[in-house]
Amino acid sequence: MSVFSSARGKGSRGFRQAQGDLHLDAVTKVFGDFTAVDDLTLDVPRGSFFALLGPSGCGKTTTLRMVAGLEQPTSGRLLIGDTDLTGSRPYERPVNTVFQSYALFPHLTIRDNVSFGPKRRGEQDAVRLADEALELVQMTHLAARKPSQLSGGQQQRVAVARALVNRPEVLLLDEPLGALDLKLRRQMQVELKRIQTEVGLTFIHVTHDQEEAMTMADTVAVMNLGHIEQLGHPEVLYDLPKTSFVANFLGQSNLGNGVVTGTEGTNLVVEVAGTTVRIPKARSSVSEGPITFGVRPEKVRITETQPVGGGNDVKATVVDVSFSGVATQFLVTTPSGATWAVYEQNLDIERNHLRPGDAVWLEWNSGHAFGVPVDDAAAAAGADAADAASPTASVDAS
Ligand SMILES: Nc1ncnc2c1ncn2[C@@H]1O[C@H](COP(=O)(O)OP(=O)(O)OP(=O)(O)O)[C@@H](O)[C@H]1O
Ligand SMILES: [Mg+2]
Repeated sequence: MSVFSSARGKGSRGFRQAQGDLHLDAVTKVFGDFTAVDDLTLDVPRGSFFALLGPSGCGKTTTLRMVAGLEQPTSGRLLIGDTDLTGSRPYERPVNTVFQSYALFPHLTIRDNVSFGPKRRGEQDAVRLADEALELVQMTHLAARKPSQLSGGQQQRVAVARALVNRPEVLLLDEPLGALDLKLRRQMQVELKRIQTEVGLTFIHVTHDQEEAMTMADTVAVMNLGHIEQLGHPEVLYDLPKTSFVANFLGQSNLGNGVVTGTEGTNLVVEVAGTTVRIPKARSSVSEGPITFGVRPEKVRITETQPVGGGNDVKATVVDVSFSGVATQFLVTTPSGATWAVYEQNLDIERNHLRPGDAVWLEWNSGHAFGVPVDDAAAAAGADAADAASPTASVDAS
């Protein structure tokens, strides 16, 4: 019996809910001598919205293609619940994919495009199923049109309907919003999230847009060089990155390499280029030796006078001020030459008299700092990475 014909429950409006979690168990894909996906172990809870986020070439599409059955893993297994999918054909899997290029049949109407799959399988109520799927993506009113008569966002909805009509348990979305302009993209993000909540399917959404991943997903997996660097709820990942790659790929971070010199209550004491800073032990994945200190730009305050009694401050010089409406971004350098970013909400218009060249102080709450392992690859790419204790991008003593 194929996986697809196994008995499954029904979700909202007759759409089948995923019957089990998706498991990737030590999945590896090697092309020639290149390892595109490296020993990936992953659980995607059923009915969740899971985002796979990572830079170009990190193995996102290859991972999706293995889930869809378009590519077989070199080693490892894929399962939905207890059903092993490894080795099965794409059409045997309860999985459908929406690619970036919508590939609708140009000569067929929207309704015929969507009913095409069920009709080919000989389903009697193909048109009713198609109309149900079109209603879900709010395209009922355009069902008689041809694809060329639709906008990009509308075609994208049809592509989603065409995948949903096949009643998958898992819907794979490979950068489906890539071709849309920013406004439409944001609109479609909300739409896709609504559809996912309504039908209760498992969505795996591939993107290299960190904002898209954070706004849409229950769980974000940050992928780099064929493996997952960190996985979790977007807020948790943003608040407490475990590697400098995640700290900079998911949002922006001010990082500086240093050394743990001791402890003080619940804090680690860290020397970064001659400045002493503190990191809560609970917020550091390193407890001794070389460490990379980090703090998010919006957690840093900029003042013209030295903060009193903070102990987490550093002198700096403004190099750039850019106003973006809701916020102002300051780029500042410390005496070591490191550049930090500081975001400030535009509550106090008085503040914006700061100009390049002005001397300022940066201050932050030590509870917002985090510690990650020194990333040798990142350090090697930096200018002065010879010594882990010397700054690559960092705070410095005045
Ligand atoms: N059939 C293939 N033969 C050889 N190498 C391949 C093949 N398919 C993919 N690769 C390589 O595997 C790596 C991962 O490719 P993949 O398409 O999964 O990346 P991606 O994360 O989806 O990137 P992008 O964001 O650019 O779409 C890339 O370096 C790519 O060149
Ligand atoms: Mg890709």
